[in-house]
Order: sequence, then C-alpha cells, then structure tokens
Amino acid sequence: MADENMHPNLQKLLSRARDFFAEVEDLTPGKDLEKRLNEEYGAGTPIFDDMAALIRRGVTSNEGWVTTDELDGPRYRRTRVSPPSPENRFFSITTVYMSSENDETYRGQYHLHPYGEINCVIPLDESAQIMGMSGWQGTGWTFPGAGTHHYPEVRGGALIALFFLPAGRISYKAQPGGPQPISV
Ligand SMILES: [Fe+2]
Repeated sequence: MADENMHPNLQKLLSRARDFFAEVEDLTPGKDLEKRLNEEYGAGTPIFDDMAALIRRGVTSNEGWVTTDELDGPRYRRTRVSPPSPENRFFSITTVYMSSENDETYRGQYHLHPYGEINCVIPLDESAQIMGMSGWQGTGWTFPGAGTHHYPEVRGGALIALFFLPAGRISYKAQPGGPQPISV
C-alpha cells in the first residue's frame, strides 16, 4: 500500500507498532514472555491503548484498512497491513477479525510460526477470548514460540488479533497433531 493512499489512522497504527517494536525486538517469543507482555504492555499502558483504540475505530467506522479480506465470510477476515521492512524492524503487521457465535469455539486456519508470533488481543465483544500459550486470553497478548503450530481459536464473541511476525514468516502447511517444539 503506497503511503500517499494510506488511511491516516493506519499511519498512526504503524507509528505506535514501531514504538512497540523498538522496545520488544530483542525478546524471544514463548510462554514466559507472554506473561511478561501481559504484565508490562497490557490494557492501560499507552501503546496498547493507542493501538486498540485505532483498531476499534477502524472497524466500527469501517475505515477500510482493518480486516478487509474474507476467509470464511465476514466472520473470519484478515489483512496484512504492513510487510516486513527496516522501519518495522522486519516484523510484518497483520489484522485478523474472528467471531464466535452462540457458545461455539470458532477455529481459523491451522498454521505454524517458524520464528514465533506476537499477538495483540483486542476484543470487540467484552467476553471474547483467543487461545494463547497459557490458556484463554482476553484483552492483552499471546506470544506463541518459534516452531509452534495451532488453530487460531476464539470464543465468547468477536475480537481482532493484531499480530506481528518476525520476517513476516508464517506457514499454512503444518498438520494438526504434529509434535510441538521442546522449548515450549
Ligand atoms: Fe498463530
């Protein structure tokens, strides 16, 4: 997406995501750091609150840059809003919308993270949660380690996952049931 065509709120999101990357680029994704991100960068902290407000506004005002590409109709949508770049410290930035209805757990596409994933969880419904390394996670962070593979699973309503991938790497070739890396 060319800068001159970029929605101003997407530009603001990139700016705040880059502030975050400057602080976390040396961390290694995994269970321990999932806890640390939730303690140090959770709701009520400036970067989280700014990113969550921009994402929520982008969706509710239909600004056309958050989760526009349908994977399973409107309930599962994804957009890579920024590729890995020097400005992003070589993280990609993607937004996913997932909606669980009634009492179901909704599953998206199985995938593997060659270098891990930093995932910012922004519920649109207060009760919405996503499965993380340590169980169900509402507002906050999940941080799957390198080589882990999973279904993205959501319950309790709709949420946005704003996720950052080192080098933009993600694989959709993994099979459910395969061994997980010993490090996690
Ligand atoms: Fe993932």
